[in-house]
Amino acid sequence: MANILVTGGAGYIGSHMTYALVDRGHSVTVVDNLSTGVRGLVAPQAEFVEGDIGDETLVRPLLRHRNIEAVIHFAGSVVVPDSVEQPLRYYNNNTMKSLTLIDACVQEGVGKFIFSSTAAVYGMGEDHPACESDEKSPINPYGRSKLMTEWILEDAAKAYDFRYVALRYFNVAGADPQGRTGQSTPRATHLIKKACQVALQRAPELEIFGGDFPTRDGTGIRDYIHVSDLIECHLLALDHLIKGGEPKVLNCGYGQGFSVREVVEAVSRQIGRPLPVRIAPRRAGDPAQLIANPSRIRSELGWRPAHADLSDIVASAYAWEQRQNA
Ligand code: UFG
Repeated sequence: MANILVTGGAGYIGSHMTYALVDRGHSVTVVDNLSTGVRGLVAPQAEFVEGDIGDETLVRPLLRHRNIEAVIHFAGSVVVPDSVEQPLRYYNNNTMKSLTLIDACVQEGVGKFIFSSTAAVYGMGEDHPACESDEKSPINPYGRSKLMTEWILEDAAKAYDFRYVALRYFNVAGADPQGRTGQSTPRATHLIKKACQVALQRAPELEIFGGDFPTRDGTGIRDYIHVSDLIECHLLALDHLIKGGEPKVLNCGYGQGFSVREVVEAVSRQIGRPLPVRIAPRRAGDPAQLIANPSRIRSELGWRPAHADLSDIVASAYAWEQRQNA
């Protein structure tokens, strides 16, 4: 069993990761500045440290004194339109603080690192489905801030005793099947989360951002991946690094795309009545479609998703949202 540092472990995906690691007997330290994370979502078996990964004087002693072997780095800002309005905040939070963290790992001899990257590095997603080797031309500061971090990792791995796996997430949704954690960000922006809130009448209607994209029904298409399947990608990546495996960059998606309208239909089926919707203008920085080619993670890490079904994803997101209401 390993000593693992999870950054952003009070956030949506990081809190699922922490549960998965403690469930497997790993010893986990969570660092989170609680800017968007929720303290109550951190698994009680984990050590919680409130602080910022950009603070070297906090991180280096943590790595050293807790004998950390691997870092799983989730902390960062994730809202694409915010990154268009506040690019410098995104470069600071996502690129500069990651650089500080990677440097701290190199200085302290922590040579296993898993990074939350994103499908947003592919830009307009013109090559479909997107392969890892496709051209990277992010169209928003969020995607650029993450791509720069991938480059830092690539160069660090060439120069130092440091190996990493960068996982390019497509659209993560759903919640822990045991109901211990889920998407709890106060100002939710993600489609499935917002649709579930409308379903529970916490908002009057769902805005569909753009009805005139060049897609089959005019709305944006995304590859939605259940958070439990995404966590499995990290567990396989961790095993790979522990076994001495080489650096990798891997897509995390199913290879199937659903439009906003198809998601709306799935939520309507879940609640047994039509979800109220309204077509609104496109959001800044949104590509028409993003779909993964997941062959590399399947062949190189043996990943086999267990929840690749939109109704499953919607049902688990809805169950979490209902629990939040209660
Ligand atoms: N959408 C709506 N109405 C809403 C919310 C979203 O129509 O209320 C649409 C968006 O325009 C888009 C789709 O639903 O077409 C998905 O939007 P999300 O906000 O759920 O997710 P994004 O695709 O913008 O971004 C997410 C993550 C990023 C990640 C990216 C990769 O936020 O971190 O997926 O595809 F990089």
